[in-house]
Amino acid sequence: MIARRGVGPELRSGDVLLRLFRRSDAVAWREVRAANRDWLRPWEGTTPDGPPAPVTFGTLLRGMNAEYAAGRSVPLAIEVDGSYVGTLTLGNIIRGSYRGAYIGYWIDHRVAGRGIMPRAVALTLDHALGEMGLHRVEISIRPENLPSTRVVEKLHLPLEGLRPRYLHIDGAWRDHNIYVADTESAPAGGYLARYLHEHGA
Ligand SMILES: CC(C)(COP(=O)(O)OP(=O)(O)OC[C@H]1O[C@@H](n2cnc3c(N)ncnc32)[C@H](O)[C@@H]1OP(=O)(O)O)[C@@H](O)C(=O)NCCC(=O)NCCS
Repeated sequence: MIARRGVGPELRSGDVLLRLFRRSDAVAWREVRAANRDWLRPWEGTTPDGPPAPVTFGTLLRGMNAEYAAGRSVPLAIEVDGSYVGTLTLGNIIRGSYRGAYIGYWIDHRVAGRGIMPRAVALTLDHALGEMGLHRVEISIRPENLPSTRVVEKLHLPLEGLRPRYLHIDGAWRDHNIYVADTESAPAGGYLARYLHEHGA
């Protein structure tokens, strides 16, 4: 399935828009990835089999579209003022008795520190726990990742605990703190409304 304009969720807060990826994102995606290699390396998923093979945008897009069509993942491009600046994935979507998913994210270092990711996560949590009918969304963060920890702190997501050696990141199994949003602990007016009330746009 190829994502077209107007298809899939379009989540907006002011100048921040989250939407499915399109073929036309190829040039911007390549430029942003190239400009952020060193910035992302400490936080990117690897496997014990060695460094992952470099992925082309075409391969990535086909994989993302297949995952979205199967209902397993919602891979979202983050735009600010119409420019691609990062990716947020609502992944591992499981229905049945679990009704949960995780969120993973990264943003271009050139726009870091402007509160873009807290808004992107808040928009996604509201969508996942609202329209999508999920019960629980987890965010896993290495304890040493202070900027990412600030994102979940600003959204008041409770820390559920530490999972030792939870994910293979930057060449080794790394401990992760697990932060959780669920329908019971969600703020009455939603995560975005509370974030904007406390921090502004
Ligand atoms: C984590 C990340 C997504 C935060 O996104 P963001 O849009 O910059 O989020 P915020 O604007 O709320 O900033 C969060 C914290 O980053 C730090 N920060 C601010 N400006 C920064 C900059 N220019 N460079 C690096 N860190 C900065 C601050 O500690 C800030 O917290 P504060 O607002 O209390 O001072 C981003 O830093 C990133 O993509 N990092 C690399 C990939 C990564 O860590 N992904 C998450 C894996 S769990």
